[in-house]
Amino acid sequence: MLVALTREVSPNIGQCELTYKQRETIDVDIARDQHNQYMECLAGLGCRIHCLPAEPLLPDSVFIEDTCIVLDELAIITRPGAESRRAETSSVAKALETYRNLVFIEAPGTIDGGDVIRIGKTLFVGLSSRSNRAGIEQLRNLLDAFGYKVKGVPIRDCLHLKSAACQVASDTLLINRARVDADHLGRMKLIDVDPSEPSGANALLVGGTVVYPHEFNGTRKRIEDSGIEVRVVDISELRKAEAGITCCSVLFDG
Ligand code: GLY
Repeated sequence: MLVALTREVSPNIGQCELTYKQRETIDVDIARDQHNQYMECLAGLGCRIHCLPAEPLLPDSVFIEDTCIVLDELAIITRPGAESRRAETSSVAKALETYRNLVFIEAPGTIDGGDVIRIGKTLFVGLSSRSNRAGIEQLRNLLDAFGYKVKGVPIRDCLHLKSAACQVASDTLLINRARVDADHLGRMKLIDVDPSEPSGANALLVGGTVVYPHEFNGTRKRIEDSGIEVRVVDISELRKAEAGITCCSVLFDG
């Protein structure tokens, strides 16, 4: 069964890291309500939700994707690029040790899970402000024995690789080519974001269905026109903390 590991919204999400947005007041009740609807959507798509309690001292901790990479064979506990986020990993490691053997990214390496796209036995990792070459090298060494290839991918003008491209079907990527060169991501069919929606490339594939933010109607139509089913959720309050739709969960067979 597919497990969706999530974490409740911190009451202090308003003190989150920001890289491209101006700070706005975040209504924690609305953010929690949206997060609950997100989890209901994942449950409706067949996921068993494993939700960790909120971490009041860790404002960004709802963005659990950045703390780990879960593969069939093992889980990698990351070392997030933002120092304020590093303490998020200990409770995630504790939760994941019941599902997988764990390995760890160590200093000076940094990786945010939001920079990692796995397609088959290849992990593409964004060279971002959060994930560095030392982290990518460690990941490569950790996964070599399991037959995975790890490739660094330059990105521009965005936080994570998954702000630039995401898998939306087994053979298809949704992409904003202004943020990443498609050539770096293997041979996949491509759906370009609507040019008026540069932040529209972040999408969560659950089974054969794409979970997608409600506000990017032009890009959503492009995904649907490709024959892919889309479920829309509203994460507008979480987006004030630079949320993407992928970053609020980690999906794996459990
Ligand atoms: N606020 C999301 C992040 O910076 O990681």
